[in-house]
Amino acid sequence: MALSYNARGFLLLLAAASLLAASEARTLVVGGSEGWRYGFNYTDWAFQNSPFYIKDQLVFKYENDSGYSVYQLPNLWSYIKCDFSKAKLLASETQGTGEGFKVELTEWRPSYFASSGKDGKNCKDGLMKLFAVPLPRWN
Ligand SMILES: *[C@@H]1O[C@H](CO)[C@@H](O)[C@H](O)[C@H]1NC(C)=O
Ligand SMILES: *[C@@H]1O[C@H](CO)[C@@H](O)[C@H](O)[C@H]1NC(C)=O
Repeated sequence: MALSYNARGFLLLLAAASLLAASEARTLVVGGSEGWRYGFNYTDWAFQNSPFYIKDQLVFKYENDSGYSVYQLPNLWSYIKCDFSKAKLLASETQGTGEGFKVELTEWRPSYFASSGKDGKNCKDGLMKLFAVPLPRWN
């Protein structure tokens, strides 16, 4: 009983949060003016820019010679470990220039992103990882 009560409360909260969503989807440059680079705290950035909503777009910007990339990691564990063995390449080292590489948040579940460069050091030591849990929109 308590569980279903809590579950209902959670759904109500979620609905309320979603109603507050701007009707326009946002396009956010990851890292703001810093872009996608080694050593910037993207966990912090994601926290500051939450909540995310479905249809929001994340833009990854980096130079061709930086060796950065954008991978989608399959789950929390691979995200924590910076394990790219089952990762999906979204943007290669040359796809972050100009307007940057855009990823739309389409699914109501966590999306994990990271750069694999320098044998994973971009992710492990360079903090080049973030995750977003987009909330649904009703509009
Ligand atoms: C990055 O930011 C998060 C959230 O503010 C914080 O918990 C974490 O300690 C920071 N990491 C580093 C390496 O500074
Ligand atoms: C980056 O590399 C790609 C592929 O080689 C090329 O199409 C693009 O023009 C380059 N961008 C810059 C800013 O050099």
